[in-house]
Amino acid sequence: MLLNNPQGNPGNIMPLENLTPDRFNLFQRIWYSIFPGTYHGKVNRQRYRHLFNSLLLHFRPKTVPRRTLKFTLTWGLGGMAAVLVGMLFISGLMLKFAYQPVPDQAYASIVHLQNSVLFGRLIRNIHHWCGNALLLVVFLHFLRVFFTGAFHPPRQFNWVLGLVMFLLVLGSNFTGYLLPWDQLAFWAITICTGMLEYIPGIGSGLQKMISGGKEIGPATLSNFFAVHTAVIPACLIILMPFHFWRVRKSKGLVIPRTPQEDPADKGESVATIPNLIIRELAVAAVLIALIMAVSVLFNAPLEAKANPGLSPNPTKAPWYFAGLQELLLHFHPLFAVLIIPVVTVIALFFLPYIRYDADTAGVWFASLRGRRTAIVAVVVGLIITPPAIIADEFLIDFAAWMPWVPAVISNGLLPAALALAGIIGFYGLMKKYYAANNNEAIQAVFVLLLIAFMILTITCIWFRGSGMALMWPG
Ligand code: HEM
Ligand code: HEM
Repeated sequence: MLLNNPQGNPGNIMPLENLTPDRFNLFQRIWYSIFPGTYHGKVNRQRYRHLFNSLLLHFRPKTVPRRTLKFTLTWGLGGMAAVLVGMLFISGLMLKFAYQPVPDQAYASIVHLQNSVLFGRLIRNIHHWCGNALLLVVFLHFLRVFFTGAFHPPRQFNWVLGLVMFLLVLGSNFTGYLLPWDQLAFWAITICTGMLEYIPGIGSGLQKMISGGKEIGPATLSNFFAVHTAVIPACLIILMPFHFWRVRKSKGLVIPRTPQEDPADKGESVATIPNLIIRELAVAAVLIALIMAVSVLFNAPLEAKANPGLSPNPTKAPWYFAGLQELLLHFHPLFAVLIIPVVTVIALFFLPYIRYDADTAGVWFASLRGRRTAIVAVVVGLIITPPAIIADEFLIDFAAWMPWVPAVISNGLLPAALALAGIIGFYGLMKKYYAANNNEAIQAVFVLLLIAFMILTITCIWFRGSGMALMWPG
């Protein structure tokens, strides 16, 4: 009897009579009991490999344009985010075996996990560092997608999906932050949920819904635990494949190119296996090694058990909300907590749907002029933001200068209108003096706001001391 190989190539025909399963060693017997077909020799092994590869190719195209394999297009960031989510799911499930989501036991269960469970501390460290790294990686992925114009059609909706996942990752880090139930967790979450109360009308209701009551307590912990370990993971499990599928439906990644190159010219295509897969595996291996090294060397913080009667001074939000907390020191809460963040998020969702002058997909920073205007925006942001923070702290006090005006106007509407006028002026300046088209001018405004937000974040983390007063670190 003869077996044909799957391609029907007669060159690979092999006689079945040569196979002698009775001579298999223990390992082979176990292996072939799982994959019975493979002992029929090379031909069937090839068939199995073919099957495995076609399984892989169900969520991968058969070929990819060679130019999209260039590391400096993606920096491996989307893949890294996916690997980190995978690691968070695995380590998170392991943590669930030890963790108790009730205030009396949460902290003790973490201490027990760290001190008495084999590799408990390591698992916790891995989860902690993966969660923080994920935020950073997703943020950088978001920047790379923006600066390579990968949100233009046909990728608009994938940008929207990405933003939703960004919010989920933020939510996941935020809800996870409370779980250790130490002083750091308790007061950081108190500060953040307290910010919600400033939202007129629905604020205190919203705060009560999230916290499960007026104050942070058992209901908050159980709400956060459920959202953290069930609701958000379920949403991510649905949205991530959707995100990857959209990449496929857009015929792969944007093709990196210079402004002169034709966007329709995809260049040569190469087989996904092994060209893309091997690169993805390499990035994943380096990332996992890095996370393991950091988790062995640096422990996740754990302060004293939460004490609702003893608030630390200063009490700071988690680092990813530090920019918002700083904003609260400069604007009326209605603007800092509601209007500015909501307008920013809505603007980001609509960004791909604005009418642009050019399709710059694949060109880093849109064009050479785009690169120049982005640098101008960085410089302007760096020069203007720190003095603005200092001036607002020590010199400017609209509320005291015009006590007859409601604070929401003197401390909210007025500074917000001034900031908006500055942004519009900057946009006009880019168009007038640099002859920027609207792609380049919008990008410059994005960079300006990004730099300002990063400086606000740094100021809150390192330059705010007791009573949140400005201070020099050290
Ligand atoms: C958990 C979060 C995320 C994961 C796991 C993820 C994963 C990925 C992966 C693996 C790719 C393909 C490879 C690459 O571009 O590196 C990709 C592409 C893409 N992502 Fe994400 N992403 C996430 C968040 C985001 C965010 C926040 C945005 C933007 C707001 C975004 C927008 C996009 C777009 C538009 C593409 C297509 C890029 C292109 O065609 O060049 N993603 N994502
Ligand atoms: C995007 C996914 C996730 C992110 C970003 C994330 C992030 C975090 C963070 C930052 C913490 C606090 C760690 C610390 O500093 O102590 C935490 C704790 C925790 N997470 Fe997650 N997590 C994710 C998914 C999961 C999943 C899927 C599970 C379980 C099904 C899980 C279970 C836990 C548990 C039990 C804790 C408490 C243990 C501890 O605080 O050390 N997480 N998570």
